[in-house]
Amino acid sequence: MGLADFITRLPKAELHLHIEGSLEPELMFELARRNHVALPFKSVEEVRAAYDFSNLQDFLDIYYAGADVLRTEEDFQDLALAYFRRAHADGVRHAEIFFDPQTHTDRGIPMQTAMDGLWAAMGEAGEELGVSSRLILCFLRHLDEAAALETLRQAEPWLDRITGVGLDSSEVGHPPSKFVRVFERAGAMGLKRVAHAGEEGPPDYVWQALDLLKVDRIDHGNRAMEDPALVRRLAEEGMTLTVCPLSNLKLCVVDDLARHPIPAMLDAGLKVTINSDDPAYFGGYVGENYRRLAEAAGVDRAALVEMARNSFTGSFLNEADKARRL
Ligand code: ADE
Ligand code: ZN
Repeated sequence: MGLADFITRLPKAELHLHIEGSLEPELMFELARRNHVALPFKSVEEVRAAYDFSNLQDFLDIYYAGADVLRTEEDFQDLALAYFRRAHADGVRHAEIFFDPQTHTDRGIPMQTAMDGLWAAMGEAGEELGVSSRLILCFLRHLDEAAALETLRQAEPWLDRITGVGLDSSEVGHPPSKFVRVFERAGAMGLKRVAHAGEEGPPDYVWQALDLLKVDRIDHGNRAMEDPALVRRLAEEGMTLTVCPLSNLKLCVVDDLARHPIPAMLDAGLKVTINSDDPAYFGGYVGENYRRLAEAAGVDRAALVEMARNSFTGSFLNEADKARRL
């Protein structure tokens, strides 16, 4: 069997996916038309040509601008359903999707709008595609602690729909320590905790995510490899890392997929998973991330199977559901 078919047939979960980052330019134009929003681009080709990033902030500026076309419950539903269909075609059986409520509430879109649209799509994904899913509410770390606490408070009516909280946006200069009380409160509310750490930020941010935020998973974690004591700690704890190869390439976290740290992470005994992060912006959904990494970095099929298994064991499914989906 060829590599592409092998990867598609491999049952997998996706654990690091920003739903706003799955907004394809075609849908962006459709929603702009539907909602009478003016876009600073004339064509889909012009949008794609603008996706040439030197770092995380370059990308975030365009990602937040793109999200402005999301106005109604139906928009969020269409967005998420389009993602689930693509993920399903790639062999994804379970997806834990991030959303950034502050990106929407700060421009006057009520939390309920995103919550209802995403929830409707999650129901359809389960019924029509057999793809189970969970929702993770991310705080924007470039905003302050009070804003994150207020967002957590606003989410209280929907705690039955939210599995966990995360931390994303501009990493450097916004350490995990800024959000200790937010994550404490989320933990006390029974929510799982994850945080982006070590994407652009130093290994110390990964230590902080573990020790101060008490995270259940690390999102990215690339720069943990600079600190041998940290690598030992992550390996001993069996901490799941949600790594995103094409994102790392597009945001210049790595200069060449052939030198991606995943092979070294696996050698060090880390529980690595492969994910797409913001697939509409980074040139590929999860299957493409597996394929491009395998081809460029010489990751063999046994290692791909190991990472696909890690995606279930590191998920927030209960043990019976993990076993059923493996
Ligand atoms: N928001 C969306 N994608 C992100 C990423 N890769 N890092 C931080 N924040 C993000
Ligand atoms: Zn991310």
